Amino acid sequence: MSTASLAPVLEIDQRAAAAVRAGLTSRPKRLPAWLFYDQAGSRLFETITELPEYYLTRTERGILAANAGEMVARAADGARLRITELGAGSADKTRLLLRAAVERQGTVLYEPVDVSASALDGAKQRIEREIAGVTVTPRAMDYTDGDGRRFDLGASDGGERRLVLYIGSSIGNFEPGEALRLVRRVRAGLETGDGLLLGVDLVKDEATLVAAYDDAAGVTAAFNRNVLIRLNRELDADFGAEAFAHRAVWNARESRMEMHLVSRIAQQVSAGALDLTVEFAAGETIHTENSYKYAPGQAEALLAEAGFRAEATWTDARGWFAVCLGRAE
Ligand code: AVI
Repeated sequence: MSTASLAPVLEIDQRAAAAVRAGLTSRPKRLPAWLFYDQAGSRLFETITELPEYYLTRTERGILAANAGEMVARAADGARLRITELGAGSADKTRLLLRAAVERQGTVLYEPVDVSASALDGAKQRIEREIAGVTVTPRAMDYTDGDGRRFDLGASDGGERRLVLYIGSSIGNFEPGEALRLVRRVRAGLETGDGLLLGVDLVKDEATLVAAYDDAAGVTAAFNRNVLIRLNRELDADFGAEAFAHRAVWNARESRMEMHLVSRIAQQVSAGALDLTVEFAAGETIHTENSYKYAPGQAEALLAEAGFRAEATWTDARGWFAVCLGRAE
């Protein structure tokens, strides 16, 4: 696609515009899940993490709360640690690990990596205010956009080991091949002996999974539809968000929760900035997200395939979520 054909794009960047064009002209229609996270979408996601049905965040937090000291000690293996986190998020669960590191070694360097400079700014201010002994050095970069390039984390100095956190089941939003490429890129940016702490959501009964992605208060539905509102604003599109229903389904064959937007009626939608008009049949869907659920042992296998020795796995009493430590070999 030529750059010229994307020239009238408003606020959205060229990569996003190209992805929207490709997704809305493919069959079935799809949109990349990273488009969810504009300001409103990020706020909605924060609300999702507190919903009664969305067990992921509180289950992982429970695992970290119970085991942070051991996780940090295992990762450090006698050395000092510096902690790098992919995605700054709200850093709420990260605090547990930072506190454990400060308790162990007095001070710790924390490097949140995120595309959003404002998320990084917020994380720096909050964490340095709340936890004495933590120095935050944010890195603004898109860690998902690498095409196999080495993941440049910069050198670790002073004999410190680096512990990379990739928690929150974020890896679950990548298809298996992409997940492997991403973990391999992380490995390529590490020294032998450095660690990766990976949080994955595990397969469980369908009703629990579906409820987590289709909550009673409708927050996940609003999160899903928000992507259309974003396209209206940033690509001059004319989606009627209420003309699309939220659908969350468990795909057992692929071991993933899927989110779709389902056109309630036959309709035509335009995106002025893309000079694009698309037709929807009644019942036609846009596939907006995959959230892969791992079988026990699968995260360890992924780590091994990417060049890590899977050293330890912590889980909750119900076996709903797992946090695995891999050591770069
Ligand atoms: C960010 N990610 C791990 C969430 C998930 O569970 O896949 C995004 C989300 N989608 C719907 N609810 C939450």
